[in-house]
Amino acid sequence: MKVRRLLIIAVSLTAIVFLAAATKSKPAAVTFTRDIAPIFYKNCVECHRSGEIAPMSLMTYQEVRPWSKAIRERIVDGSMPPWSADPKYGHWANDPRLSQAEKDTIINWVNAGSPKGEDKDLPPAPKFAEGWTIGTPDVVIEMPEEYSVPADGTVPYLYFSMPTNFTEDKWISAMEIRPGNRSVVHHVIAYAQDSKSKDTAPGGEGELRSGRTHLGGITPNKTGVTFGEGMARLIKKGSNIVFQMHYTTTGQATKDRTKIGFVFSKEPGRKMLVTGNTINTRFVIPAGAANHEVTASKTFDDDVIITSFMPHMHVRGKSFRYTAVYPDGRSEILLNVRITISTGSIPTSPPSRYCCPREPVSIQSPSSTILIRISSIPMRQRPSAGATRHGKR
Ligand code: HEC
Repeated sequence: MKVRRLLIIAVSLTAIVFLAAATKSKPAAVTFTRDIAPIFYKNCVECHRSGEIAPMSLMTYQEVRPWSKAIRERIVDGSMPPWSADPKYGHWANDPRLSQAEKDTIINWVNAGSPKGEDKDLPPAPKFAEGWTIGTPDVVIEMPEEYSVPADGTVPYLYFSMPTNFTEDKWISAMEIRPGNRSVVHHVIAYAQDSKSKDTAPGGEGELRSGRTHLGGITPNKTGVTFGEGMARLIKKGSNIVFQMHYTTTGQATKDRTKIGFVFSKEPGRKMLVTGNTINTRFVIPAGAANHEVTASKTFDDDVIITSFMPHMHVRGKSFRYTAVYPDGRSEILLNVRITISTGSIPTSPPSRYCCPREPVSIQSPSSTILIRISSIPMRQRPSAGATRHGKR
């Protein structure tokens, strides 16, 4: 009798276990409104919304649905969201990569036919302040008038100078450059030009001009930037803002009027933020070379804290490596960047995205050097002319 009772208990326990397992193995179907929209709002719509740099908006189900197979492809090959820093080196505050669970959710959703789900599950859409990603700026400075970009031909780099009308020195905690017409603006670099400098001619390569400091730049995959806690840029009173504009023609004559927005810092920056560059403009890549390396370096006289890196190169580049070389001979890889080449295509977006270390990199020993190695893609993979615009169509 006793034996039988035990057996029944054992059997019923097993049944419970099976029941639990059966419920677990049949997860609720993945839907756009409940599972996918939160991921896209967090990791994609910064660029994939109307008027932004990506080719299509991913804000609504109607907009997303036709792209679902392409989305699966770009999630599987890791090319979206764009990010090329090698995870082996450094930790990046702005690393936008999806977790494996998020990737699996998206892939399962596409495999299940991309169901929409219930409207009531949709979270509120993220709000973007009037197109500015830095919030509402305290001041906006705009090109004095529209520039007419011709239909064809090459437009040389152009320089526009605008007064700030600042009557006192200003500390800036965030800034953003907004092209008036993104289809023709390949890049903008903004400088602050000291009013006391005699070197006021608008043209010429920016960094080489006296009294000019680099504020920041924009390329198609870079939006506004808010500086870290206690950090600010100084723009002296009476300064002018100079834009270096690189326009590309599209076959259609059009106009552009680019602007820059600044958010003022509540208090002076405890750390003054400046932009420097380490650049190599004179090298030759032998024809057909599969892995030609170019280097550049910069040695610091003072202690510095590095808050961001911006590897930038045009069509030829395929990888970047920043190494700190200390006076005692030690060296350390700070950032390693490789372009992900999506299936069957040619790299169209050379790295040109800021990589911001989670903990700023502190270089405390003067005469340390940052050495940069860049390698190039072989000639036979040369992208078509249309692809030179950082992948923007
Ligand atoms: C930093 C900006 C940025 C972010 C963030 C971003 N994208 Fe993109 N995306 C682009 C740009 C620019 C292109 C066009 C160039 C290219 O195809 O690489 C693009 C292209 C694509 C394409 C290919 C479209 C085509 O024409 O075939 C897909 C699919 C895509 N993105 C999906 C996503 C998804 C999904 C996310 C989020 C998980 C995302 N992207 C995040 C900028 C971004």
